[in-house]
Amino acid sequence: MTSAPERTLVLVKPDGVRRGLVGEVLRRVEAKGYVLVALEMRTADRDLLGAHYTEHAGKPFFEPLVDFMASGPVVAAVVEGHRVIEGFRSLAGATDPTTAAPGTLRGDLGRDWGERVVQNLVHGSDSPESASREIGLWFPGLS
Ligand code: TYD
Ligand code: MG
Repeated sequence: MTSAPERTLVLVKPDGVRRGLVGEVLRRVEAKGYVLVALEMRTADRDLLGAHYTEHAGKPFFEPLVDFMASGPVVAAVVEGHRVIEGFRSLAGATDPTTAAPGTLRGDLGRDWGERVVQNLVHGSDSPESASREIGLWFPGLS
């Protein structure tokens, strides 16, 4: 399809880092043909996470979500390619790893751990507006 290349923000969440799945996530991103244009490991502070998940502020899972996301390092990446926003969401699979389709990251590698927050290994921006906003939050120096 004719389109301009776009960028998305991908996070390997603390569960993915703890479980040693960083390489597997990045391998699938690269195997699909997308390009890593920025990559960093860091433990995010609550201000960044609150801004990142601002659309969910006030929901019952918001505080557990921020606690979980601050519980250890994440790997943040900017990934580039035609239709990569939609493409990475497709690689990631549905939010609930119990029912995410096999073949997806969440479907193959995730499950329910009985926690208050869904631990589903990865984040991917859900729209061009979200991608631009999230990349600005996580990689403010990136042009
Ligand atoms: P959301 O943006 O809806 O999902 P996605 O990551 O697929 O874009 O929600 C953000 C995260 O919040 C989600 O990855 C896991 C967590 N979450 C819960 O713990 N419980 C919920 O009911 C929902 C909707 C999300
Ligand atoms: Mg989302």
